[in-house]
Amino acid sequence: MAIVPNPHKTTGFLGWIDDRFPLTKLWKDHLTEYYAPKNFNFWYFFGSLALLVLVNQLLTGIWLAMHYKPDATQAFDSIEYIMRDVPWGDLLRYLHATGASAFFIVVYLHMYRGLLYGSHRKPRELVWILGVLIFLTLMAEAFCGYVLPWGQMSYWGAQVIISLFGTIPWVGPDLVTWIQGDFVPADATLNRMFALHVVALPLVLVGLVVAHLMALHEVGSNNPDGVEIKKHKDPKTGIPLDGVPFHPYYTVKDLVGVGGFLFIFAAIVFFAPDGGGYVLEKPNFMPADPMVTPELITPAWYFGAFYAMLRATPSLFGSALPGVVVMFAAVLILFFLPWLDRSPVKSIRYKGWVSRVALGVFSVSFLMLSYLGMQHPTALYTLLARIGTFVYFTYFFSLPFIARFEKTRPEPARVTE
Ligand code: HEM
Repeated sequence: MAIVPNPHKTTGFLGWIDDRFPLTKLWKDHLTEYYAPKNFNFWYFFGSLALLVLVNQLLTGIWLAMHYKPDATQAFDSIEYIMRDVPWGDLLRYLHATGASAFFIVVYLHMYRGLLYGSHRKPRELVWILGVLIFLTLMAEAFCGYVLPWGQMSYWGAQVIISLFGTIPWVGPDLVTWIQGDFVPADATLNRMFALHVVALPLVLVGLVVAHLMALHEVGSNNPDGVEIKKHKDPKTGIPLDGVPFHPYYTVKDLVGVGGFLFIFAAIVFFAPDGGGYVLEKPNFMPADPMVTPELITPAWYFGAFYAMLRATPSLFGSALPGVVVMFAAVLILFFLPWLDRSPVKSIRYKGWVSRVALGVFSVSFLMLSYLGMQHPTALYTLLARIGTFVYFTYFFSLPFIARFEKTRPEPARVTE
């Protein structure tokens, strides 16, 4: 049989690389010949924005680490040194701190898009599960980073969060000492938080993001209509009829999202770098003092909802264990979402009013919980936080029942825009 030369084979330097590494293949598989649905809307900006913020955190983090000292006697001063003496140091720190808040805003909106359009449903269960693992890692990463300035909130926040492990029966108190490396948060604690924040967790995070995208590209993207574009392909080329090559169409479209995002991000970094106390909390401008407890210990805003659930759950025989269980369950339940949501249609566009109202109530209650987690727990606020916690879990557990009884509109065969 005659050997037909491959007309697409690259030549020259690129050809030399391609014979040794699948560069052109990767470029084609993930960009120029990755067909994404043509009806992506605003909600589809947040995946690429999450990537952008990840790169911002990695780069600014590396440069901050060049000047930061992970030592309980020097950490706070080294941050002041970065802010005052290191050329552009204040900008580096503000980009990193604002970047942390931006990361959570972007990731929460990215997850919310999943709820809207059923992106967690078959065949994207693994994309979603890897996403929840990313979310968990991101929470750990943000917590460790928060401790590093060794200000009052860093110290007492670490104390509160690590002491939660003390509620575990039998092993709890020993576990707390083991995690802290001391009997109270101290130099050893700061050192390990630093190691986790700058090496271990970023590695896990980047690995999970790569896996997240590989899983997504294996099954292909969902879209606002929730229809599978792979079901209708051109018989000759095998290309989905409702798909467009990711590059250049979505690389260019995503640049619009990047522009809008950078506009808002830069406005905060340059004009309100402490974000009104939400990006950098006021008590953290004071060095850690183990002898003085701040009047109110609150987590960063992005943990507010989960912290509100922790505080709202009544203790059992003086132990906060039930609250800890509820707080962890609130994240772990996300893993089961692909199997809890059994509606015949994926997108909210074709679901009935019950689904819409349920998602609306869930969203409002999550925002309320986020606010409550940052406030003094008065009697009224505790009651509201209990209602919010109830709504949060009821939303997930009611999904299978809503799916069974709700009348949905038929999903179109092809995308509608
Ligand atoms: C560092 C954090 C993350 C990065 C960099 C990231 C990146 C991306 C990118 C680039 C996409 C494709 C573009 C898009 O659909 O918007 C995507 C899709 C997706 N992500 Fe993420 N992601 C992150 C976190 C998460 C989290 C926390 C979840 C959920 C818990 C999640 C769930 C999904 C799902 C379900 C899709 C498919 C969406 C669809 O096809 O409709 N991701 N992600």
